[in-house]
Amino acid sequence: MTDLTGLRLSYTRAELRRAALHANPLHQFQAWLQEALEAGLREPYALSLATADASGRPSVRTVLLRGAGEEGLTFYTNFESHKGRDLGANPQAELLFHWAEHERQVRAFGPVTRVPDDEADAYFHARPRESQLAAHASAPQSAPIASREALEATFADLHARYPGKTPVPRPAFWGGFRVQVQEWEFWQGRANRLHDRFRYIRAGGEWQITRLMP
Ligand SMILES: Cc1cc2nc3c(=O)[nH]c(=O)nc-3n(C[C@H](O)[C@H](O)[C@H](O)COP(=O)(O)O)c2cc1C
Repeated sequence: MTDLTGLRLSYTRAELRRAALHANPLHQFQAWLQEALEAGLREPYALSLATADASGRPSVRTVLLRGAGEEGLTFYTNFESHKGRDLGANPQAELLFHWAEHERQVRAFGPVTRVPDDEADAYFHARPRESQLAAHASAPQSAPIASREALEATFADLHARYPGKTPVPRPAFWGGFRVQVQEWEFWQGRANRLHDRFRYIRAGGEWQITRLMP
């Protein structure tokens, strides 16, 4: 057995006070993300995306946040992937950010919709050409593939099909999802496991803030 029971850190870097919270949780999130970006944390916009299928079976994986605004939190993926199928059958998700160096965690839950086509097109074409071709090559995402060579052969075929600067169309099976967050939680690690946790829930157009037991 790998014994990790002796490994523990005390979280003493910061505290989170009710009076210091932004009234709008999006602003709280943006402030913490900005701090993580400015501190040079590695990919602080990477998040764990939890979905569940129609039977309730959960699954989780990392994706990259590509935008955060009043419209929601946006990420891009393959609609035919495991997560894409989950979200087709059960369009709700929880997102988790963990910024270990800042001893912070943020959870965001809400219903999920697809990003409008024109916006997905604009983002797809702003990505490096190799990423555009890879979106075509890795399809259907999450399906078995015979070998690494098979994947690379498909990628080479795609280079031949779209030579030079030939525009690469966004595949119909690839696009964005947007979580319209209804519930947020901000967690700041504190000494002795007496952490600060605040939940925001939308109640009639207002955000209600509650401190939670750590
Ligand atoms: C740091 C990191 C960033 C990732 N970003 C994305 C992403 O933005 N979109 C995506 O579809 N997969 C991304 N992946 C890959 C996913 O974690 C996952 O392997 C893939 O999407 C298939 O997931 P699924 O089978 O659950 O649908 C990323 C993985 C890592 C480790």
